[in-house]
Amino acid sequence: ETGGAAPGRRPTPPLFRRGEDFAPQLGDAAVERIQGPFGEPVWAITTWADGRAVLSDAERFSREQLDLQGVDSPEERRRIRAGNMLTLDPPDHTRLRRAVTAEFTVKRIRNLRPRIEQIVDDHLDRMEAHGSPVDLTDAFAPAIPSLVICELLGVPYADRHDFQSRAATIIDFTLPMETRRQVSLEMRTYMRELVQQHRRDPGDDLLGRLITRRGSGDDPDDLDDDELAGLGNLLLIAGHETTSNMLALGTLVLLRQPDQRRLLVEHPENVDAAVEELLRYLSVVHMALPRVATTDVTIGDVTIPRGDAVVVSLPAANRDPELVEHGRDLDLGRAPTNHMAFGHGIHHCLGAPLARAEMQIAFPRLFARFPDLRLALDDDPDFRTETFIYGVRSLPVAWGPIDAA
Ligand code: HEM
Repeated sequence: ETGGAAPGRRPTPPLFRRGEDFAPQLGDAAVERIQGPFGEPVWAITTWADGRAVLSDAERFSREQLDLQGVDSPEERRRIRAGNMLTLDPPDHTRLRRAVTAEFTVKRIRNLRPRIEQIVDDHLDRMEAHGSPVDLTDAFAPAIPSLVICELLGVPYADRHDFQSRAATIIDFTLPMETRRQVSLEMRTYMRELVQQHRRDPGDDLLGRLITRRGSGDDPDDLDDDELAGLGNLLLIAGHETTSNMLALGTLVLLRQPDQRRLLVEHPENVDAAVEELLRYLSVVHMALPRVATTDVTIGDVTIPRGDAVVVSLPAANRDPELVEHGRDLDLGRAPTNHMAFGHGIHHCLGAPLARAEMQIAFPRLFARFPDLRLALDDDPDFRTETFIYGVRSLPVAWGPIDAA
């Protein structure tokens, strides 16, 4: 079993998906000892209740105490983690999260909706002007979240090709750790320059507001340049890689399941629930990132020894019968579930209100503009099996009259 790996690449571990069944390749056990993304053994939690228990317990399951393989110097470890709240425990996590929480409230995001609508419509205009067929992973899916997060943060959209390709490298677990670290450093240098520009001229964007409010160094809660750069990069990467893949995979499954697509198109009042179901069903983030057990912990009949790595399979938890009936099926008509596609606990996705707004706006508008949208594929789509976030590498779609030739 090679997991479909290309020569020289690491095979797809069982936690990750392949093909169009969005369930992971795991057995029935609630806790399994399996191969992690880098070939190392990890404990995988596969149920909804245990998954929530692990993610709510940042004391016994630490992100910060996880070993950074090959990085021995404490100063280097600090720099790698600076500003990246997803790699930190309280109190640093709390301090960073507090600095940006106000930017992502439901109310703040509601005010952004008209601009998101305009961005979506502009991209649909461009698709129409280009004409059928187009690759959705080029024209639509990455473009919308990228432009939204660039405007929000204060990052020049013209730089998108650089940071999109760097982000793709960072989330590719089949590449050597060294390559990924090197690219992270490049991103840090890029963002530090932006932070310094914002120090000279803050402007009315997130980086500017952070510097005005939190960048002076007078308050213990203030952030230094390394932290501002780390935070900026986390938002930039998390802000487009995830939503972009949701838009592409969501379109794929809606085109494959016309009944579901009809539910979306004919019941616009239900769009919020429909997006929750797509989030649950696709669970594009294969797993909550590894935590390390800070003490021996017993879950069911398994004792996880202190020091071992633990991951939560989000797609497995999101299919658990305790959460949802017939969880292997996509059903846009079901009431929203308490799914974990955005994680749970202190690291629950900061950008969830923004991601939701983008999808609630983009899906209905795409299908309203192209009512006869269809896949222009001869074969199965080319799935991204090498990244921490599931997706497709391309998604050709067509509309209008079918070419008789
Ligand atoms: C954290 C999923 C969009 C920013 C997370 C986590 C998940 C997730 C599962 C928790 C990871 C863990 O605990 O190991 C998603 C999905 C998205 C999405 C499925 C789109 C559909 C976004 C957007 C942004 C964002 C648009 C930013 C603008 C973040 C940040 C964290 C995070 C900053 C870390 C929070 C913390 O450590 O406290 N996301 N995300 N995400 N996400 Fe998202």
